[in-house]
Amino acid sequence: MSQFHEKIEKNVGLMAVLIAVAVSFGGLAEIIPLMYQAEAIKPSPGVVPYPALQLAGRDIYVREGCYNCHSQMIRTLRFETERYGHYSVAGESVYDRPFQWGSKRTGPDLARVGGKYSDDWQRVHLNNPRDVVPESNMPAFTWLAGAPVDGPEIARHMRGLQRLGDPYTDAEIAAAPAAVAGHTELDAVVAYLQALGKNAPKGD
Ligand code: HEC
Repeated sequence: MSQFHEKIEKNVGLMAVLIAVAVSFGGLAEIIPLMYQAEAIKPSPGVVPYPALQLAGRDIYVREGCYNCHSQMIRTLRFETERYGHYSVAGESVYDRPFQWGSKRTGPDLARVGGKYSDDWQRVHLNNPRDVVPESNMPAFTWLAGAPVDGPEIARHMRGLQRLGDPYTDAEIAAAPAAVAGHTELDAVVAYLQALGKNAPKGD
């Protein structure tokens, strides 16, 4: 036995191979169960794939890089739950691809912002945050109000998500361009923001 040990210790190449084998066993033992757990996560009650206008708003949220300043994940810490509400649970973001959890908080967490302000407040705030929060350093997103939502693009996005397993019906996808017709990108972002956290667990 000790001869074996000596051989390994004196042979760097062999030692490196054996270390790699040992580490990968450890890694697999940790990672594989997590992969199955992630598949087993069910949507929280009320959580459904984003309706067309909200999905459009979510795409714009990602395009504009809102996640660079806003997280959407309330941690299990008392000062967070007292400020924002119930901590985030995995079942709330099963239809978020990619998820917007994040960790950068120049601005507040937005996981529970739905319904916190009126639609009008959100519109004014996005157009120029200083109009409602004088000390705000959030950029103004002035171009959203004049940009129409691209209906066929949203339908294609929904089709892609359906292929990945999101339970969109063909009828919902066919109706998407009509559902967003006449809406601006500002309408879409506001619809998205106003739905955030609506299916959060109750209590704290
Ligand atoms: C450069 C950083 C930055 C970016 C980028 C940014 N924000 Fe903000 N946001 C802030 C800051 C700081 C505040 C807090 C002051 C305020 O209310 O304006 C804030 C506040 C908010 C609030 C109010 C939250 C609350 O609970 O009071 C909302 C909603 C919001 N932002 C949405 C967005 C959206 C949507 C985008 C992308 C289109 C965006 N933000 C991009 C920094 C940012």
